[in-house]
Amino acid sequence: MVMKVAALSGSLRAGSMTTQMRNTLPELAPEGMAIEMVEIHDLPLFNEDLREDGKAPAPVTRLCEALAGADGIVLCSPEYNRSVPGVLKNATDWASTDQSAPLKAKPMVVLTQSVGTRGGNMSHYAWRQILSAIGADVVVGPDVSIGPMADKLEDGRLVEEEARSLIARQLELLAGKIAAAAD
Ligand SMILES: Cc1cc2nc3c(=O)[nH]c(=O)nc-3n(C[C@H](O)[C@H](O)[C@H](O)COP(=O)(O)O)c2cc1C
Repeated sequence: MVMKVAALSGSLRAGSMTTQMRNTLPELAPEGMAIEMVEIHDLPLFNEDLREDGKAPAPVTRLCEALAGADGIVLCSPEYNRSVPGVLKNATDWASTDQSAPLKAKPMVVLTQSVGTRGGNMSHYAWRQILSAIGADVVVGPDVSIGPMADKLEDGRLVEEEARSLIARQLELLAGKIAAAAD
């Protein structure tokens, strides 16, 4: 069985280090895990009035279908002002209020990065609080907050070995959770 894992980045800019980390995940995934990049650039700002007769705007439906169809999710996030970036919080707010509840009990991993040495660890803990409210099944274990990220990237990829092995371990733990949920 191939495990499908959706990977989201919490930064929309073209040169985003978070997105470079996210885009390296296929190299780090264990055998049998397929990483699907899910983009959030086109989501409107959360507003329940945009659901007409219960029907969400098309980008929201696309997001929720991609999340619902995934066996697991990896949230890759920068830290903004000691917390989470609005664009990714916006995506989780849409998903958490969708009828399909695509994040509920979903095996998930959070990876944060930053230009600073703490690797966005306050964002990491803010995500844990948010995802606990949503009822996601987040991997507990070594918290992966990587920094300073700029030193660890080359040609759009995460190349630093320690960071790569920390992420590979998280993906193994995610695979274990997905397998356990399927039993
Ligand atoms: C609005 C804003 C707030 C930020 N706040 C923090 C912060 O609280 N802690 C931190 O380590 N870095 C902070 N940074 C720096 C980010 O770590 C850095 O810009 C990083 O490259 C953003 O991720 P990206 O490359 O994926 O866009 C902030 C950046 C922005 C734009």
